[in-house]
Amino acid sequence: MTEPKTEQRTAAKTGWTRNPGANGAAVRTDELTRHYHLGSSLIRAVDGITLEVQAGEFVALLGASGSGKSSLLNLLAGLDRPTSGAIFVLGRELGCMTSLELSRHRNQTIGIVFQSFNLLPRMTVTENVELPLRLAEVPRVSRPSRAKEALERVGLGERVAHRPGELSGGEQQRVAIARAMVNRPRILLADEPTGNLDSNTGEEILRLISGINRPSNGEEPATVLMVTHERALAERYAGRIVTLADGRIERIEQR
Ligand SMILES: Nc1ncnc2c1ncn2[C@@H]1O[C@H](COP(=O)(O)OP(=O)(O)OP(=O)(O)O)[C@@H](O)[C@H]1O
Ligand SMILES: [Mg+2]
Repeated sequence: MTEPKTEQRTAAKTGWTRNPGANGAAVRTDELTRHYHLGSSLIRAVDGITLEVQAGEFVALLGASGSGKSSLLNLLAGLDRPTSGAIFVLGRELGCMTSLELSRHRNQTIGIVFQSFNLLPRMTVTENVELPLRLAEVPRVSRPSRAKEALERVGLGERVAHRPGELSGGEQQRVAIARAMVNRPRILLADEPTGNLDSNTGEEILRLISGINRPSNGEEPATVLMVTHERALAERYAGRIVTLADGRIERIEQR
């Protein structure tokens, strides 16, 4: 019963107008906070964020170092729990999920790409990309073709037997994107996916992410939330730019 009220409040705060009857939100947060206690001090990493992201949107999160961007993404990913407030993903509140549902959320509803790639060094490229399929209990026989398809999509069909250490930074990030997308998640969360790359390679990665957001092959578009320090990239690729400061939304720009 409280949901419609929350939605109206959300729309008013975010400036996002939409058909009030339709529920097209991929992600919605309501007065979300994540506070850390460090010794005697309280760090308000996320300090009351109310945000709605529509299905198929590409939102860039900007903000100074320490403004709460990664903390927010980790909450949306279900890797961390809020101090207060609520997170709805595809209309379901994360706080109400069982641990099994939450792990499904992490494995199947969302894909995550980190700045540091987070590939497993002892595994080959294919094994890294197959990992989410194993976790999602996709039958063994269909895993290699799914992994191959994801790797071809990021232009790495020839590197399947390499280990991450044998790849360039841009190639490793492409493997990480293939791994994030192999389960065909509806939402892609990317935390500075171009942070460790030169500008040309960064641009390539953005084009890939943009292609996942707006696929040309008739596939379902994925909603993208991407943290970046690079305003120029955000302006070129995102439909909306949300700037955080001190754990709060400072500004929202519609492109
Ligand atoms: N586990 C933790 N324990 C205590 N404080 C933390 C923890 N994680 C983050 N913080 C603090 O929360 C604040 C927000 O951190 P966060 O990592 O979300 O920032 P960010 O915007 O991603 O910064 P950057 O651009 O440098 O990655 C910072 O002040 C940080 O020191
Ligand atoms: Mg960060």
